[in-house]
Amino acid sequence: MPRHVLVAYGTRSGSTAEIARFVARTLRDEGLDADALPVSETTDIGRYDAVVIGGALYTGRWPREVRHFAWRNRKTLRERAVWAFSSGPLDTSASERDIPPVPSARRAMRWTRARDHATFGGRLDAKAQGHMAKLMLDDDRGGDFRDLDDIAEWATGVAAEVRELPERL
Ligand SMILES: Cc1cc2nc3c(=O)[nH]c(=O)nc-3n(C[C@H](O)[C@H](O)[C@H](O)COP(=O)(O)O)c2cc1C
Repeated sequence: MPRHVLVAYGTRSGSTAEIARFVARTLRDEGLDADALPVSETTDIGRYDAVVIGGALYTGRWPREVRHFAWRNRKTLRERAVWAFSSGPLDTSASERDIPPVPSARRAMRWTRARDHATFGGRLDAKAQGHMAKLMLDDDRGGDFRDLDDIAEWATGVAAEVRELPERL
């Protein structure tokens, strides 16, 4: 039976959902079962062998529902292999160097004993709504900074570790 991985995410404008689906697709290409779901639609975490938690970054934080997901499910998650990712930077910095988790992601990693974290570049669409987003667009900060090669490489590493997990009783 292939190992089953949940990729649970929180997004506002959809780009983190696309990253999560791409991570899940990479895990499937690596021979695992994988579902990508918004944290609000996850049920029965206990049936997964591993969980990847992903959050979009807004004003230096993970979305509230992602933090709550990690806290609410911490006991179950601690008994599984957990990874985390954030998506946010609207420049090439995430492709150039490792960006450490923001404090709220770090706390969630502590609650769940997550093994590793990656920060991926984000996307700010030219049609983004909201006062802050429009100010950022005016400031020429729009664009898509997601690097699929980076994401695939990270997800392939996750898959390798998941395949090595001991059988759960
Ligand atoms: C109002 C606003 C605040 C943001 N704050 C941050 C931030 O603190 N750190 C960061 O890296 N990216 C920040 N971003 C960029 C977003 O994280 C990026 O657009 C991300 O891809 C959004 O994900 P989503 O499409 O899944 O909602 C911000 C974007 C907006 C519009």
